[in-house]
Amino acid sequence: MIIPAPAVCIRRPGEFALPSAVHLTADPGAEPAAELLALYLRRPRTTDGPQIRLAFSAEITGPESYQLEIAPERVDLVAGKLGGLLRGVQTLRQLLPAHALSDGAAADHTWRWPAVSITDGPLLGWRGVLLDVARHFMPLDFLYRFIDQAAFHKLNVVHLHLTDDQGWRIEIDGRPRLTEIGAWRVGSMHGHPDTGWIDDIPHGGFYTQEELRALDRFAAARGVTLIPEIDMPGHMRAAIAAYPELGNDPARPLTVWNRWGVSADILGVHDQALEFCRDVLEQTVGVFASPVIHIGGDECPTGRWSTSPAAAERVRELGLQRPEQLHGWFLEQMCGHLAKLGRRAICWDETGHSASEAPKGAIVAAWRDAEHGVAAVRRGRQVLMTPHLTTYLDYPQTNNAHEHRGHPGFVTTLEDVYRWDPLAGGLPAVEPGGEAPGVLGTQASLWTEHAPTTDHVLHQAYPRLCALAERAWSGSPAAYTDFTRRLAGHEQRLRALDAWRSTIWTDVHAH
Ligand code: ACM
Repeated sequence: MIIPAPAVCIRRPGEFALPSAVHLTADPGAEPAAELLALYLRRPRTTDGPQIRLAFSAEITGPESYQLEIAPERVDLVAGKLGGLLRGVQTLRQLLPAHALSDGAAADHTWRWPAVSITDGPLLGWRGVLLDVARHFMPLDFLYRFIDQAAFHKLNVVHLHLTDDQGWRIEIDGRPRLTEIGAWRVGSMHGHPDTGWIDDIPHGGFYTQEELRALDRFAAARGVTLIPEIDMPGHMRAAIAAYPELGNDPARPLTVWNRWGVSADILGVHDQALEFCRDVLEQTVGVFASPVIHIGGDECPTGRWSTSPAAAERVRELGLQRPEQLHGWFLEQMCGHLAKLGRRAICWDETGHSASEAPKGAIVAAWRDAEHGVAAVRRGRQVLMTPHLTTYLDYPQTNNAHEHRGHPGFVTTLEDVYRWDPLAGGLPAVEPGGEAPGVLGTQASLWTEHAPTTDHVLHQAYPRLCALAERAWSGSPAAYTDFTRRLAGHEQRLRALDAWRSTIWTDVHAH
């Protein structure tokens, strides 16, 4: 059976045999889901033969809920909204024989769907995965596949971490050095910052705005929102290397960082630095349709501001007590700017070394221990739960020697990901858009300091991302054993999608 498991699934007698051309009908407004299904079925459409009907019903509430009836003579997929039909299409896709999922699959005439009655809808409205394309650049064709694979698991957010100390990946009009200089570094670190070594192999790459716009449309066609992150005011060394005047000391030139860790070099707080961020955000909003834009805010040591005359001047002008408080102020400026552009900000939860928190109205992404997320909900905030110990997929999944090196120091097992409860302690689940405090959803993070290639990323992603997807859609911790049983069959699907790089069964057997 499929992953994530549907809320209700009843097997019926018989099968629906897919003809060589499919009779897909769609209610007004449902056509995008029919087009996506036709694409996955790899066969032309016709107007006769057994019907596959995509329809709307006001009786189905919930933006992603759907009902699916597969009978030997017809298929009915019904939802209240297009989002529900798009999730149902992925259910139909998973119910195909696994070999039908591979790029090279011939649309032979023997594909069958089992007859089933499914009633389904998600537990959480935000089910995401972050991919860090800054630490290691990932080729565009991989991003397409990665997004499609996320949709396959009914994830609805792919968060692109586009900028960091080690690389700037989004083309910005009028600021060519960001991608001429900022997108490239002379070498990369291997291992932990305290013990690692640095190679001298140049690394880099970037995406044009046109490329990202097309990617955004591709994701939207699958019901996936691409959320861009421009991390500020820390994690900005690549931009400062490109434009030294954005930092705190233009006389001290910087290179794009070839190390991992937290850089002491951060943006300045002078008008030019703020204007830069506003411009970048404006152009980012012009590329991505997402109502939510991530502005980072994490890991920003403020030492450089303590010695900067411009920062001292800013502290005086604003009537602040300490330079650390500039951090919260900076992010407030950017949240306000995004609000003017009609978008909402999301920030990492440690925002405000000044003991302030993410600016009012911004979503809080709780990445440290889950307690920080719980506390933020109690303070009235909307929170995305992404605590590192259970959702950071850059951590290795076992202690075994043959396991691919991930981020050292932690282990996050498949079971850790599955059993963790994003609503622990009875927190309410809330929908984005409103103001009610609660948990919007959960997200896995694939940081790539220790995942230099797409193979490494896939190794870290699957099957743990399946666990997160199911947990966020329908899971209860008690279903873990059943999940691992279903995973054996799901592996065949992931192999056909060319997404399976796991050695998990070796690891299980080694114990
Ligand atoms: C983070 O891991 N610094 C968000």
